Amino acid sequence: MSKTTDILQQEVDKRRTFAIISHPDAGKTTLTEKLLLFGGAIRLAGSVKARKASKHATSDWMEIEKQRGISVTSSVMQFDYNGHRINILDTPGHQDFSEDTYRTLTAADSAVMLIDVAKGVEAQTIKLFQVCAKRGIPIFTFINKLDREGRSPFDLMEELEQVLGIRSVPMNWPIGTGRELCGVYDRVKNQVELFQGDDHSTIKVQKVEDYNDPIIREMAGEYLHDQLCQDLELLDVAGDPFDMEKVQRGELTPVFFGSAINNFGVQTFLENFLQLAPKPEPRRSTAGEIEPTNEKFTGYVFKIQANMNPAHRDRIAFLRIVSGKFQRGMSVKHVRMGKEIKLSQPQQFLAQDRDIVEEAFPGDIIGLFDPGIFRIGDSLSQGSEVVFDELPTFSPEIFAKVTVKNALKHKQYLKGIDQLTEEGMIQVFRTVSFDDTLLGVVGQLQFEVFEYRMKGEYGVDVQLQRMPFQFARWIVDDQIDPSKFRINSTLVKDKKGNYVALFENEYAMRTAMEKNPTAKFLEMAP
Ligand code: G4P
Repeated sequence: MSKTTDILQQEVDKRRTFAIISHPDAGKTTLTEKLLLFGGAIRLAGSVKARKASKHATSDWMEIEKQRGISVTSSVMQFDYNGHRINILDTPGHQDFSEDTYRTLTAADSAVMLIDVAKGVEAQTIKLFQVCAKRGIPIFTFINKLDREGRSPFDLMEELEQVLGIRSVPMNWPIGTGRELCGVYDRVKNQVELFQGDDHSTIKVQKVEDYNDPIIREMAGEYLHDQLCQDLELLDVAGDPFDMEKVQRGELTPVFFGSAINNFGVQTFLENFLQLAPKPEPRRSTAGEIEPTNEKFTGYVFKIQANMNPAHRDRIAFLRIVSGKFQRGMSVKHVRMGKEIKLSQPQQFLAQDRDIVEEAFPGDIIGLFDPGIFRIGDSLSQGSEVVFDELPTFSPEIFAKVTVKNALKHKQYLKGIDQLTEEGMIQVFRTVSFDDTLLGVVGQLQFEVFEYRMKGEYGVDVQLQRMPFQFARWIVDDQIDPSKFRINSTLVKDKKGNYVALFENEYAMRTAMEKNPTAKFLEMAP
């Protein structure tokens, strides 16, 4: 092995790049902050919260963007812990939930699914889980807010299986719940971690023989210990054993119980996670699988963010490094454009701060200054012409008909639509019957930002009229008959000319499926 490959291997081995997926309010901000604190990135702790504070009303979003030029959509946080270099990809929720949220998941090698112990699996968790499950990436579960009254752990495991279709293996188990919670039993290390003090502010760790150990009885009392033994015996007999291969294939999720706000169970979680989570994975390309240790630098753009600084109309392209070493100022090939470009102002993201990065390795995300040359999915490579698999186009859920108020602005309007589609901000469709333009998004804020940017950047006032559709399916069929897509549905074409059917409800979708038995109904563009 050459020295360069050796160094590359070491850098790859220590990296973990993951996203936290959850429904708003499950505690993602709190958990992220605690993780950053473990990494000693204390100066950042406040900024995660500050960033969250800017996520209020849409109008605030516009103001914040205008005045301070900061981003409220997803970014990346990097920190070191125990010899590991960790990249957390933020997946925005609330009203800034958008296709960016989904696309960000394509840059992660694993996901942490955060669940509120009282609420269980919620709507946004399901959507994000499905995107991860499609990629077959490992998913680790953290059940949060254990200090509150919540559902029984068995109940939650059952729900993971029923709703998400994934089996689970608890790595630790609560001793008592809600007000009675006094700690957790760590099934991997055979130790108990107990809360101490009325405010639960300190944690005592005690090694034990196994869960029957009388020490636990002394510490937790007879009643809770009996309960614990009963539960764990049941798990030993009837639960799934830990199986690393199943975890890697995304068929089994290791489950951790804890309370982010009390910093309880977070460190154990982090340490186990770092052990079990995959290092940067290869990515598929026209040149076959590209291994991270391949010495030639390669990467792909998974997200483009505009208006980071409104004073200049710059955009930032987020690049996931797939292989090789990145060095500031290096020249690489922009494969789609067929030309060499110099990567001179790369940025790394640490919450709000943007630092210039000198070097980076596979698994890292860097931000490239984009004067308008990048599109979602673009590949960069050193030397050869590697093109990574196209990023999936996700099925939009909210639709609107768009028209331009002033017909004289038609040219700018088309330019705006074109560029914002390329950025991945909206999806555009044309109806087969009337050639109307429809826009599709997954989050309402995308429409509002679209209107705002059309006016601000292209000088065009647009009118959006909400359409009643909720589902989009790409139709693959030898012979498509538009008359079969009329009941509470409509047939449109996407930018590439693929047929897409839009449905007002599930019933309409099922009916169309029955009427078109030979057609395939795909959730993502073919
Ligand atoms: P999010 O990013 O997923 O939306 O959630 P965030 O971390 O902001 O947490 C949502 C609320 O849940 C916050 O309360 C937070 O303090 C609380 N929380 C997070 N982890 C725990 C936990 O382990 N136990 C309990 N009991 N609560 C937890 P808030 O009142 O909405 O905000 P704040 O005023 O506390 O900031």
